[in-house]
Amino acid sequence: MDFKSLKIGKYVIEKPIIQGGMGVGISWDQLAGNVSKEGGLGVISSVGTGYYKDKEFAGKLVSHRPLSEANFYSKDGFEAIIKSAKKIAGDKPLAANILYAINGYGDVVRNACELGIDIIITGAGLPTNMPEFTDGYPDVALVPIVSSAKALKIICKRWQKRYNRLPDAVVLEGPKSGGHQGFTYEQCSMPEHQLENLVKPVVAEAALWGNIPVIAAGGVWNKEDIEEMMNLGASGVQMGTRFIGTFECDAHDNFKQVILNAKKGDIKLMASPVGYPAQGVVTNLTHLVEKREGPAIKCISNCVAPCNRGEEAKEVGFCIADRLSDAYEGKLETGLFFSGTNGYKLDEIISVKELMDKLTLGE
Ligand SMILES: Cc1cc2nc3c(=O)[nH]c(=O)nc-3n(C[C@H](O)[C@H](O)[C@H](O)COP(=O)(O)O)c2cc1C
Repeated sequence: MDFKSLKIGKYVIEKPIIQGGMGVGISWDQLAGNVSKEGGLGVISSVGTGYYKDKEFAGKLVSHRPLSEANFYSKDGFEAIIKSAKKIAGDKPLAANILYAINGYGDVVRNACELGIDIIITGAGLPTNMPEFTDGYPDVALVPIVSSAKALKIICKRWQKRYNRLPDAVVLEGPKSGGHQGFTYEQCSMPEHQLENLVKPVVAEAALWGNIPVIAAGGVWNKEDIEEMMNLGASGVQMGTRFIGTFECDAHDNFKQVILNAKKGDIKLMASPVGYPAQGVVTNLTHLVEKREGPAIKCISNCVAPCNRGEEAKEVGFCIADRLSDAYEGKLETGLFFSGTNGYKLDEIISVKELMDKLTLGE
C-alpha cells in the first residue's frame, strides 16, 4: 500500500506518520526536527523544558531541580528547542505536545502559538477549552488525544458550541501506548478498548462532524501495522516507542539501552500521580516504589495539577517530574522509563531517515 499524505488544518504531512510527543526530553529538537525533515510530523514535548541543555534555561533550582512550575516548564527553554527544531525541519510543519494536566496549560499553549508552532496536540485529560488559548492564531491546528468515540463527541460538541470550531484531527490512543493511558487498569486489557476495535467507531464519530482525520496510536510498530490502521479507516498513525530507537532521539543513551534490553514481560502498567495508569519498563525503581523505599518525594517542580502538590505522589510512591527527568538524564537507579508494550521489539538504533524508509517502504 502506498500511503497518502495527511492533511491537518492547512498543513500537509507528506508521510502520514506522527512521532508522538515524549516527555521529559525524549522528543525535543533533534528528534522532532528530523522527523519533520524526513516528511513525517515531528512533535516537540513541552514538558520539563527547564531541563533542556543541562538546565541552562531553568531559572531557580533547588537540589539541582527546577523550582516550581514556572521553572520546570521554561518558556526560554521551549523557545530554544523550537528554534533549533525549525532549523532542522526547514519549512516543514512542526507540532508541540502539551499535556492538559500540567499546571499552566493555557500559558504553554499561548507560548507555542507565539513561538510559531503549527500544530498543537493535547492529551492527558479532555481539552474541552483548548481553542480558548489559541485566539488570534487561526492557522494553528488543534489536535486532541482521545481514547473513545464518546470523548471525541464531547470535545466536538463543546468546541462547536463555545468556539464555533472543530478539531483539525484527532489522535486515538489505545492501551498499548507508552506513558499515560486514557483508561483504567481493567479497561486496558478489555477487547472493546483495544486500538483495532476503537478505530472504526471513532472514524464513524469523526465523520459525523465533517471527516476529521483520525490518527491511530499505541502499539503501531511497522509498515504492516500502519496498513492495518489505514484499512480500518485511520488517516495516519502516531508512534512513540519505536522512535526512541533512533540516533536523533533526544533521550540519554542509557534510556535507549533500557528499551533495547527490555524483555516482553518487563513492560507493565503502573500507578502514576497523574491519576491514570502509565506504561513503562519495570526497573529497580519499580521495586523500590513497591516497597515504599523510593527516592524522597519533595514536590520541588509542582508539575501536574492532579498530583495536588505531591499528595498523589505520596499515594503512589514517586514524584513523576523527578523520576522522568532522572530517566532523561540517564539515571538508571532512579529514572522512570516509559515504553509502549512493543518496546521489547526494539533491537537496533538507526537514523530517523532509515526508520521512516522502513515504515513507508517496508523492512
Ligand atoms: C517515553 C515516552 C514518553 C511519552 N510522553 C508523552 C507525553 O509527554 N505526552 C503525550 O501525550 N504522550 C506521551 N507518550 C505517548 C506517545 O506520544 C505515543 O502516543 C505513544 O507512545 C504511542 O504508542 P507506541 O509507543 O506504542 O508507539 C509517551 C510515550 C513514551 C514511550
